[in-house]
Parts: sequence; structure tokens; C-alpha cells
Amino acid sequence: MKKSNNLTSIHLEEVAGWADYHLLDSGEGKTLEKIGPYLLIRPEAQAIWQKSKPELWKQAHAMRIEESKEYGGHWNFLKPMDKTWQIAYKDLRCQLKVATSRHVGIFPEQAAHWDWMTTRVKKARKPFKMLNLFGYTGLATLAAASAGAEVTHVDSSKHALSWASYNLKLSGLADRPVRWIADDALKFAQREARRGNKYQGLVLDPPKFGRGADGQVWDFFKKMPELIDACRQILADDADFIVLTAYAISASAVITAQAVEAIAGARGSIETGELVMRDESAGHMLSHALYSRWKAD
Ligand SMILES: C[S@@+](CC[C@H](N)C(=O)[O-])C[C@H]1O[C@@H](n2cnc3c(N)ncnc32)[C@H](O)[C@@H]1O
Repeated sequence: MKKSNNLTSIHLEEVAGWADYHLLDSGEGKTLEKIGPYLLIRPEAQAIWQKSKPELWKQAHAMRIEESKEYGGHWNFLKPMDKTWQIAYKDLRCQLKVATSRHVGIFPEQAAHWDWMTTRVKKARKPFKMLNLFGYTGLATLAAASAGAEVTHVDSSKHALSWASYNLKLSGLADRPVRWIADDALKFAQREARRGNKYQGLVLDPPKFGRGADGQVWDFFKKMPELIDACRQILADDADFIVLTAYAISASAVITAQAVEAIAGARGSIETGELVMRDESAGHMLSHALYSRWKAD
């Protein structure tokens, strides 16, 4: 089989903080982030060095404690704070919350994808249909919709869907053509393939493990082959891009690149690598995810 992309290098996509998001410091297994007005401490096993500015950490409003895989974790509140608040990324607005999860409603390192998609959708011929699988709180959906795409946003969690649609409203984009689908991402993609529906843009942010709307188990390594096959069938002939992001899996960006290549076939070009952010105190770099982006050229 002809390979399209002659992949020989791994790219470090370094994502800078912005007005409402700063990775202030890292070390001793944790990060200190400023998200909007609040400073949060979260566990980060990669931070194997010492904190650079220990005094800064005393200003934290809350700290996430992970107990175990089985029992999850909890937040310790250190200073008064609202449990929900809003931040902006450029023209997009997002509601955040500290609740049951260590996640607060945004993966800031994905800002690189939002910018990349926005540029591509703006330049692309319309109508431009984008499918966002495992869409979570919807920043990719918001970015694409604001650039003029018709977006289908799929997530198995009704809670995530209502959060994402709230973010669309907050961003002043409620009139944009966005379909919200509560379904298993794989089942939905397979159904779209059977119906013959096609998309010019695909965004996939599969977790390592997850649950479909009817309790289907999502396991990255077991289910990706089927998802790749379904995505290959729903990628339009005039498709413009695919973005795949993968967190916390034992693989490399070489593997995610080949997943994207299996969807797109031997055309266009792929960039693959790691999404990284530097802390602002010592400049230590943390790798947040593997990513691969295909474009038609
Ligand atoms: C954005 S993904 C992954 C998040 C992050 N990148 C990570 O790995 O921790 C998380 C989202 O996928 C959704 N999800 C999990 N399993 C799913 C499934 N089988 N089908 C559709 N959505 C699913 C969850 O509800 C959640 O909103």
C-alpha cells in the first residue's frame, strides 16, 4: 500500500497560555494553573522536578486530590471561590466548574487545534460539515461553528452536551447550525457510514476508556480499528481536515499519525506530535497529549 506522508519527524506543538489561562508552575507531581481568577493545583505525574516558586502555590484556591483509580478523588478548597465561573479564549466563552472530576471543562492545550481548525474552516468552500466525536464541553465545536462550519457534536453524556450548548450560547453563537447528538461515538459514526453521510472535517478526541449512551464500553485500543473504518467511510472526497488527539495511552505520535492516515488514505499531509505547554516559572515543558492533524493541502 502506498504511504502518503513519509512521516519522519515528530512535532512539539507548544501552546502558549493566554489572558484567562496560565500554567504558572509545575513540580513535585503537580501543576499550578491560573484559570480565570482562580489558582488551581492538580496532580501531574510528569512534573518530576521541584516547584520553582513554592510561595506562589500558597495562593491556590483549590487543590485536587486523587485517591485511587477506583475511588476517584476530591477537591480541597483552600480559599473562597465560586464553584462555577467563565473564561474566554479569543471570542469564545466557556463555563468552568470544580466538581466531581479533576477536569474543569477545558483542555487548554487544545487551543492549538481550535486556531488551526478556525483558519482551515474560514478558507474552505461552504457548506463545510464537521463531525466532532467525543466533543465534551465543545470548544472545538464553538471554534468551527464561529468560523462558518455546520457542526455535528457527539457525546454520550447528556451533561456534557448541555454544557457544550450552554458554551455556544455564552459565546453568542446560538444561531449557528450545530446538531447535538447523545450517542456512542462509534455507533454514531457507523450509522452515518450506513446512511452515506459525509463530512469535510473530522475531530476525534477519544478518551482511553469511556461509556457510550447505552453503556457501551469505549476502550481506545480495542475500538479504534472500528472507529477508523467508520471514519474512512464518512470522510468526504472534498474533505479538508482530520484532527485526532489522544491522552494517557501507551502509544506514540507515530501511532496516531497512522490512525489518521488510515482514515484519509494516501493524499494530503499529516503533522503529528505532542501538545505541550511550558510552565511560566521555570519553563519546564509538560506533554499533555499525542495529536495528529491531516490536511488535504
Ligand atoms: C473529550 S473526551 C476525552 C477527554 C480527554 N481528552 C481525556 O482523554 O481525558 C471525553 C468525552 O468523551 C465522552 N465519551 C466517553 N465515552 C464516549 C463514547 N463511547 N461515545 C461518545 N462520547 C464518549 C465523555 O462524555 C466526555 O465528554
